[in-house]
Amino acid sequence: MSSTLHIQENVVADLDSGWIRAQFPSLQQKVNGHPAIFFDGPAGTQVPQRVIDGITDYLLHSNANNCGAFATSKRTDETIAEARVAMADFLNCSSREITFGPNMTTLTFGLSRGIARDLKPGDEIVVTLLDHDANFAPWLALEESGVVVRKVDINEADCTLNMEDLKSKITSRTRIVAVGYAANAVGTLNDVHEVVRLAHDAGAMAFIDAVHYAPHGSIDVRALDCDFLACSTYKFFGPHIGVVYGKTELMERFRPYKVRPQYDSLPDRWETGTQNHECLAGVTAAVDYLADLGRHVSPGATDRRAALLAAYAAIQKHERTLATRLISGLLAIPGLKFYGISDSQRFDHRVPTVGVRIEGHSPRQLAEYLAEQGIFTWDGNYYALNLTERLGVEKDGGLLRIGLVHYNTSEEVDVLLRALQRLRG
Ligand SMILES: Cc1ncc(COP(=O)(O)O)c(C=O)c1O
Repeated sequence: MSSTLHIQENVVADLDSGWIRAQFPSLQQKVNGHPAIFFDGPAGTQVPQRVIDGITDYLLHSNANNCGAFATSKRTDETIAEARVAMADFLNCSSREITFGPNMTTLTFGLSRGIARDLKPGDEIVVTLLDHDANFAPWLALEESGVVVRKVDINEADCTLNMEDLKSKITSRTRIVAVGYAANAVGTLNDVHEVVRLAHDAGAMAFIDAVHYAPHGSIDVRALDCDFLACSTYKFFGPHIGVVYGKTELMERFRPYKVRPQYDSLPDRWETGTQNHECLAGVTAAVDYLADLGRHVSPGATDRRAALLAAYAAIQKHERTLATRLISGLLAIPGLKFYGISDSQRFDHRVPTVGVRIEGHSPRQLAEYLAEQGIFTWDGNYYALNLTERLGVEKDGGLLRIGLVHYNTSEEVDVLLRALQRLRG
């Protein structure tokens, strides 16, 4: 199996944009009289009403710490358990293998420090220059204990991972290969199935950062056979919560830094301190939103996992249409430099997040110009610092990032393209 987004156009149902957008009240905002256009999804998506309701309802009826003898505390226990089952359906694993935390970065630092207790000087970790720093710095920090960190380069022409370099960096000393599912700066989809296979062939573990991929494609940790996988629910229509999947055997073998009274068994073992219970209620609501979207396009999909798969098939088809329109429009703008995969024949290897520069304007100026017209994009490095340095754009303000998700429309893409065309006069 490979990690491409292969879309069967004629089988998958079309998304119902009207139904979708009606779920997201914040999409109705205006800026300077213009309808707000949210192309900032890679930094965080908007939430459907049911996520807001889930959080409010928890605070109204269940607000307490967990594991107490009384009603609100028992409801809090249920809230946590439900969120775990929802994320287990989302990732296709056991709910015992789900760990929650404030965000992916904090969870990854916690996990890397815990794993490091079992590493020896000279052990190696493989990371990449394509990744967000949250899947780089926590591993780099282990150099303090004598671990050797080896960095995989990119193919500069299309911002893909250099797989030959990756193969050459994995050795018999490699203990962990840490790779992103999709690149948050330029949208490249990595062949994570192949990365996991290469890691396992060398006797190493594979850690996958799926933060950027999760709004765009379904994840199956069983099929992927990765050892760990991290994501953040605020990137896929939920609240600000981080999630880590870890294989039971590994989450039991490695030792977290923890307070003594905290349960030492899964699933609580790696969760430090009191969790954000109201947001965990929102996590369940976000997964249920996606499942309902799946049932809306494919009424036969009854169980939640099947409904999630149906939702993502329709999401990918819609996003492909938008990405094709966006990228062909951008490539026609004089003076625009595109970073990443631009050949439509290869769109199976990307998600709809693009990075560009336009001659004569810094990314910040472009983002400010668009923001005045209600178009929300991002500028800079978005913490993919190695990549902007490698591409030689860090000192000049990085890239302008335009990130599409399923609630965006072709009309919004056209508004953006017209605004950028006007810049050229
Ligand atoms: C690919 C990727 N990995 C990791 C992170 C960090 O996630 P969090 O904000 O949950 O720490 C981000 C955030 O933008 C990201 O895009």
